[in-house]
Amino acid sequence: MTPFSTTTTTTTTFLLLLILLPLHFAATAVSPAANAKSPTISPPSSTPSSSSSSSSTLDPKQIKALESLYIPTTHDPCTQPFHNATTCDTATPFRHLLSLRLTNCSDDFSLSTTALSSLSTLTSLTFSDCHTPIVHFPSSLSINLRSFTSINSLQHLSGVFLSRFTNLTELTISGDTIKASGIHIITSNLKSLTTLTLSNTNLSGLIPRTSWNPKLTHLDLSNNKLNGTIPTSLTLLESLNFLNLSSNQLNGEIPSSFGDLVFLKNLSLSSNSLSGPIPKSISIISRLAHLDLSSNSLNGTIPVSISEMKGLMYLNLEKNNFHGVMPFSASFIKKLVVFKVNGNENLCYNHSSISKKMKLGIAQCDKHGLPISPPPAVEDDTGSSDGGGDYDENDDSSDNGKKKNGDDDGGGPNKVVLGVAIGLSAVVFLIIFLVVLSKCGCRCC
Ligand SMILES: *[C@@H]1O[C@H](CO)[C@@H](O)[C@H](O)[C@H]1NC(C)=O
Ligand SMILES: *[C@@H]1O[C@H](CO)[C@@H](O)[C@H](O)[C@H]1NC(C)=O
Ligand SMILES: *[C@@H]1O[C@H](CO)[C@@H](O)[C@H](O)[C@H]1NC(C)=O
Ligand SMILES: *[C@@H]1O[C@H](CO)[C@@H](O)[C@H](O)[C@H]1NC(C)=O
Ligand SMILES: *[C@@H]1O[C@H](CO)[C@@H](O)[C@H](O)[C@H]1NC(C)=O
Ligand SMILES: *[C@@H]1O[C@H](CO)[C@@H](O)[C@H](O)[C@H]1NC(C)=O
Ligand SMILES: *[C@@H]1O[C@H](CO)[C@@H](O)[C@H](O)[C@H]1NC(C)=O
Ligand SMILES: *[C@@H]1O[C@H](CO)[C@@H](O)[C@H](O)[C@H]1NC(C)=O
Repeated sequence: MTPFSTTTTTTTTFLLLLILLPLHFAATAVSPAANAKSPTISPPSSTPSSSSSSSSTLDPKQIKALESLYIPTTHDPCTQPFHNATTCDTATPFRHLLSLRLTNCSDDFSLSTTALSSLSTLTSLTFSDCHTPIVHFPSSLSINLRSFTSINSLQHLSGVFLSRFTNLTELTISGDTIKASGIHIITSNLKSLTTLTLSNTNLSGLIPRTSWNPKLTHLDLSNNKLNGTIPTSLTLLESLNFLNLSSNQLNGEIPSSFGDLVFLKNLSLSSNSLSGPIPKSISIISRLAHLDLSSNSLNGTIPVSISEMKGLMYLNLEKNNFHGVMPFSASFIKKLVVFKVNGNENLCYNHSSISKKMKLGIAQCDKHGLPISPPPAVEDDTGSSDGGGDYDENDDSSDNGKKKNGDDDGGGPNKVVLGVAIGLSAVVFLIIFLVVLSKCGCRCC
């Protein structure tokens, strides 16, 4: 009974597969063809007329403009874009460009206002490794753009030039110098920005106190020459999930209201001249995964509440002036992908909870919670020692070579393994011995 029913089940399954597989293949064979007719990548705000779109081609004026920008047009730029450089709408009788990416341009590349006038349907324009001086952008294009990016590309950018892109939601400039009296020129004119990156642009001046879009989610002003303090008003941008102000000349204290940025995931304030304590409120930012406060002049004790931040993966507090007992447990530190506290002369670790093998680059505490001098000078190879992986082994006998009696637990596991191994081999040996003995016994007697 049972074997029979198993066979029938198998047979049924097999038959079902035979029937279903061709159906499946038919379905997958049809879908690419269907996709090819309607544009695969068309951002919103395109005219929805997909059925007729297959017949229409790109506006000839725009084809000419693309050719003048060295984008090959032998294939239809809408259905077979060259290296993903273009996307189009689905209008008739002609389609229009929605986005354009100019990357890795040749030396004789140049922009012309004529070409740009034909491209005013673009909502997204990206230059990446495309070195060229800027030219006048027709206002029809400037106003239409939602996203504008220049990475190691446009020369002679200025705040005035950028402030004409009034409808941008995303602005990214990285590695290109911007001439401007300050960031406020940009933020006070681009009121819809949700993503702003101005990194490595040589911008100076203060971080604006007002004029920010309250819906801003991403702000990267790293690697500039910004000075002054971090305005408290920045902590009112409650949608922020990314904030990078590293490598500027900011001073003063971190606003105590930082904990108001409840959606923050990544925060870097590293390599500035910030002083004062870490605000305790920072530990209520429950989503924070990345916290980099390194290379400042922050002082006070490190708030133990940071160890309650469940999502934290990266914590860098190195090269500051923190003092007292480093408050984190070994298990908290081991859960982090990166943890750095070296370069804090007056900070020390409690040797009854942290093993010397963790090589934190700070001194051990005496019974008063003060560093036993001298602090270990070994741990400053910052470049290579990223990643928390290197806590465990590598027991290089640096200064006071041998361990003290107390923290001998490091050798524990090895001893256990050795003991088990010896025990096991003894048992095996005994069994072999007994077998041999019994056989021998039979023959001998
Ligand atoms: C174009 O984009 C697709 C999807 O984003 C990607 O898989 C593909 O590698 C890209 N092609 C080129 C030439 O960049
Ligand atoms: C950029 O283009 C040059 C030739 O113009 C080519 O040799 C190089 O590999 C390209 N680089 C990238 C990153 O595409
Ligand atoms: C773009 O900005 C201009 C003002 O600069 C405004 O009049 C226009 O309504 C905006 N267009 C859209 C679609 O938001
Ligand atoms: C950077 O800005 C300073 C003034 O803050 C200016 O003197 C210098 O020429 C700028 N450098 C570049 C490369 O634009
Ligand atoms: C912040 O910016 C610096 C310099 O541009 C960069 O090295 C660092 O990775 C950034 N940090 C985060 C969290 O993105
Ligand atoms: C944010 O931080 C996490 C954790 O360190 C990292 O993996 C991720 O790349 C960061 N995101 C950005 C945009 O830098
Ligand atoms: C921290 O530094 C500030 C000056 O930057 C100083 O006023 C304050 O007393 C210091 N606090 C501690 C606990 O050392
Ligand atoms: C170190 O930890 C032990 C046990 O947790 C505690 O009794 C001792 O007071 C701590 N020492 C310092 C200096 O905090």
